[in-house]
Amino acid sequence: MGDHFDESDHDLGQEEPMLPDSSGQRYQHKRDAMKVLEANHFVFIEKLGSGAFGDVYKMMDFSGQEVAVKVVSLEVTKKSEIEIWPKMRHPNIIPLLQYISFSNPDVGVFVMPVHWGTLKDVVVDRHFLSQTCALDCLKSWLYDTLCGLNYLHSNEACHLDLKSDNILISQDYRAVICDFSCLASATKAIPR
Ligand SMILES: Nc1ncnc2c1ncn2[C@@H]1O[C@H](COP(=O)(O)OP(=O)(O)O)[C@@H](O)[C@H]1O
Ligand SMILES: [Mg+2]
Repeated sequence: MGDHFDESDHDLGQEEPMLPDSSGQRYQHKRDAMKVLEANHFVFIEKLGSGAFGDVYKMMDFSGQEVAVKVVSLEVTKKSEIEIWPKMRHPNIIPLLQYISFSNPDVGVFVMPVHWGTLKDVVVDRHFLSQTCALDCLKSWLYDTLCGLNYLHSNEACHLDLKSDNILISQDYRAVICDFSCLASATKAIPR
């Protein structure tokens, strides 16, 4: 097993015993989740990012394809994410390729295509900002994002967490909305 976690996840080389506090338990949970993924023929490549709900890793799947794998505790996985996201098909919405749930540890695994980085990464990149095309790129990504959002709304789905680190930039310079952790159906009352 490689170096799957960042510094906040402690030193991976360190084996048992784990600390009995919540950070130690979280680390053990992530480690167990990674073991389950590896047993299911996913090979860790690198960590892509993390947010309030889960960690996202670049992994190789059983067919040798590179995929982004988001691992979320089942305790915080919402039904809408599992039920509505797979039905969404649009060039500016990241498709869900596969959803797998595991027990012990109780985690949901969302498999999607890997993208280059987030809009947030780009807007803090001085090299990008100094280029003459930067403004046109930003306008085009704003337009892409609005197309994705319009598609969601036309399908009675609300993202509810749209921000620059939930917008991915693809290798072919498209903006693609990701992170459906807060997704809700507009046909039901939306929890605040
Ligand atoms: N498909 C992907 N390709 C590349 N990076 C990704 C992908 N999905 C997520 N990420 C990275 O992982 C981070 C966390 O993913 P996200 O789905 O937003 O999790 P959370 O629901 O915890 O906020 C993103 O901000 C981004 O940096
Ligand atoms: Mg996010």
